[in-house]
Amino acid sequence: MTSKTKIAVFASGSGSNFAALEQACKQQELNAEIVLLVTDRPNALVVERAEKAGIPVAAFRPKDFDTKEQYEEAVLSALRESGTEWLILAGYMRLIGSTLLTAYPSRIVNIHPSLLPSFPGKDAIGQAVAHGVKVTGVTVHFVDEGMDTGPIIAQQAVEVVDGDIDQTAEAIHAVEHELFKSTLQMLFNR
Ligand code: GAR
Repeated sequence: MTSKTKIAVFASGSGSNFAALEQACKQQELNAEIVLLVTDRPNALVVERAEKAGIPVAAFRPKDFDTKEQYEEAVLSALRESGTEWLILAGYMRLIGSTLLTAYPSRIVNIHPSLLPSFPGKDAIGQAVAHGVKVTGVTVHFVDEGMDTGPIIAQQAVEVVDGDIDQTAEAIHAVEHELFKSTLQMLFNR
């Protein structure tokens, strides 16, 4: 078996995708090791999840820095110290800037809860339900400087359940947890 890919997971929220990736690594369904959780929200639930799993946390508040470059330089130092090879965005609600894009070319992957290019940005599930679409989905893509743009790697459709955000979100999260794992495994084994 090839050596484990060292990944840093970036997250801002509850971290269900983080938890799914952590389990997948533990159960060796994903040939990777989460060496760092990076968050821009030190009080987010995902931080508790990482601490419970014994995964180091780098938590920086962007507003404590004068510029985005300085914020990302601080993140980059933590990434380099941890030996991170790939950045995995799992609900990280912030655009990646040139500092990190330059440091990790074609090594930054994001998951988004819609069939991009439809419904980018925040509250993609709410946007889809409000629009009245019958089918939405999940996209895994490489990250560029745009908002949920960048080359698409994998997509899976999910039906909107009864025009209901909560039920649709549940269905989307279940698909996310599987699609993220299988897509990353494919990328790391190339
Ligand atoms: C996920 O649905 C992810 O696709 C989305 O945030 C959620 C985080 O959930 N990301 C975006 O909207 C990126 N634009 P989680 O904290 O439970 O993993």
